[in-house]
Amino acid sequence: MAGRYPENWIEELRSRNDIVQTVSGYVALKKRGKNYVGLCPFHSEKTASFNVDGEAQLYYCFGCKAGGTVINFLMDIEHLTFQEAVEQLAERAHMPLPQTVEDEDYERRRSQRERLLGANREAARYFHSMLFTPEGEKALRYLKDRGLSDGVIRKFGLGAAPAGWDSLTRYMKEKGYTEAELALVGLSVIREAEPAAEGHPGRPRRVFDMFRDRAMFPIIDQYGNVLAFGGRVLGKGEPKYLNTSDTPVFNKRKGVFAANLLRKERHLDRVILVEGYMDVVSLTQFGVRGVAATLGTALTNEQARLLKRFAPQVYLSYDGDAAGQHAILRGLDIFREEGIPVRVLDFPDGLDPDEFIRRDGAEAFAKLPVLTPETYRIRRLRAEADFSSEQGKAEFARKAVALLTPLDPVEREGYLKQLCVATGFSREVLDAQMADELKKAGKAVPKAPAAKREDPARTLGISGEGGSGGVRRAAAGNRPALSEEEWEVLRAQEMLIGLMATGRLPEGMTHVEDFADSGLERIYQDLQSGALPAALIDREEDEESRSRLTRLLLSPAAGSTDEMIAMAQDCVKQIRRGRVRQQMQEIEGRMANCNGETLNDLMKEYQKLSEQMRKMT
Ligand code: UTP
Ligand code: MN
Repeated sequence: MAGRYPENWIEELRSRNDIVQTVSGYVALKKRGKNYVGLCPFHSEKTASFNVDGEAQLYYCFGCKAGGTVINFLMDIEHLTFQEAVEQLAERAHMPLPQTVEDEDYERRRSQRERLLGANREAARYFHSMLFTPEGEKALRYLKDRGLSDGVIRKFGLGAAPAGWDSLTRYMKEKGYTEAELALVGLSVIREAEPAAEGHPGRPRRVFDMFRDRAMFPIIDQYGNVLAFGGRVLGKGEPKYLNTSDTPVFNKRKGVFAANLLRKERHLDRVILVEGYMDVVSLTQFGVRGVAATLGTALTNEQARLLKRFAPQVYLSYDGDAAGQHAILRGLDIFREEGIPVRVLDFPDGLDPDEFIRRDGAEAFAKLPVLTPETYRIRRLRAEADFSSEQGKAEFARKAVALLTPLDPVEREGYLKQLCVATGFSREVLDAQMADELKKAGKAVPKAPAAKREDPARTLGISGEGGSGGVRRAAAGNRPALSEEEWEVLRAQEMLIGLMATGRLPEGMTHVEDFADSGLERIYQDLQSGALPAALIDREEDEESRSRLTRLLLSPAAGSTDEMIAMAQDCVKQIRRGRVRQQMQEIEGRMANCNGETLNDLMKEYQKLSEQMRKMT
């Protein structure tokens, strides 16, 4: 693949493909204030949270957080690569494609990624075609014996890894891939030579296939890239599923199995999240839409957010065994953290979804009880409770009541009624207990999960690059532990960036120091030197940073330039006061451990700062 297009050509491309017009081709937009809104094409919703900002030339969905430039929009809606989207937009605008510029580092990174994805795609094709040869016969028989149809085998691109040692490796080398590339992407294993030593004959270097004699499940993302594979042993054996480890193109914490099919579904009202590859394939064969699985690990926050893009709620449909039931509790916590509505599908007899639908059929599946998180949790408590003693019963009632505190009174009502029946406690007793719990929880219990505070520096992946370790950097690895004041400063910094991005603030209003420690310095400097918001966004490589940066760069709601300047002045004031306050706190700390001359100096400095502070109010 050629190098990168010149920045100014891309800029012209963007300006000739107005985002409002382009998006209008897909989404019915209505004008609201300065912006346009519509129903998000990337997740199903009833009220419009999809915004198109004609001024910044960005789109952003407050529901599913999809966002970016006109190029990103086309990539996502038409499932194109960056290159393909650029080509289409160029054609629409009748612009000839320019010479690409040589940017060696970009070229190297990109071409490695592209080569590795190419290798995976080639390998997936190879595995699939093997199914219909004598070498793949055993795997085909295995899949058929498990009841899979030809149609669903094709739909998922399932395949066969032959039993030989290096069939795939040899094939891929013929296609021009190097051993190093094959090892890097997890298709081949290189075993280095061991020299002969006393008692050992030694052995030669050998390169062999990672997946041998297995049924293959390609893991494909929503853009159609083959990222990795899961390989199932044909019958009994360990490990049951062998999965590609993380590679430069695959992070198992971020993806789900069957994202490619989810993306093609329109108007899903829920995603069904299962544990296993076979569960997805089997439910799909029985006509269930919108099924996905995590990749052999516990659910992560990233996966939860990814799923949110495809439907407004998720049904957790884990195995009916103990491990599955435990994973449900963990999953409920994660979806609550992310503010994603979730339900639990309850499978009888310890069955997994695949086993259940085969035994009882699609209609029974459709009729499975759909439990709210509270009902599910209460059931779990009930199963563990000892109802033979009054004490056990009381303990159950207390725990059950406690988990209802976050609900509003109307929602709570039904559960409390059920608890009366289940425990035999009177409604008065339970209400008193509820009042107690509410007091304990105090006003701190939010009705809905509060939006998670996010550190833009951390999430944009630009923190921790050199520089001194400020509060925020120190906290970057974990949930940032910022004080209320520090959060306010950070919010002011973010808003100021949004205001700057409009290009309407006068020269000299802001200074790079206003963004110290926020991780926003680079964005500030880029905007300061005249970069357009859209140009900054096209630079981000992963979807999540793109979404965050887009949210940051959307034009603020304020209408007139005067209003914007006034807002910016407030932000600057707040930031500078925050800095002075921080310096004063530092000095307070130092004053505690010194005396004499030094203490004197510190006090003078402190006075100077508090003088400054006074002037700023
Ligand atoms: P299960 O052990 O429940 O298997 O693992 P399953 O999905 O029912 O598979 P079948 O029906 O026996 O073929 C659930 C999921 O956990 C991951 C896989 O993603 C699997 O689908 N897993 C399990 C592994 O990654 N490795 C293993 O060895 C086992
Ligand atoms: Mn199973």
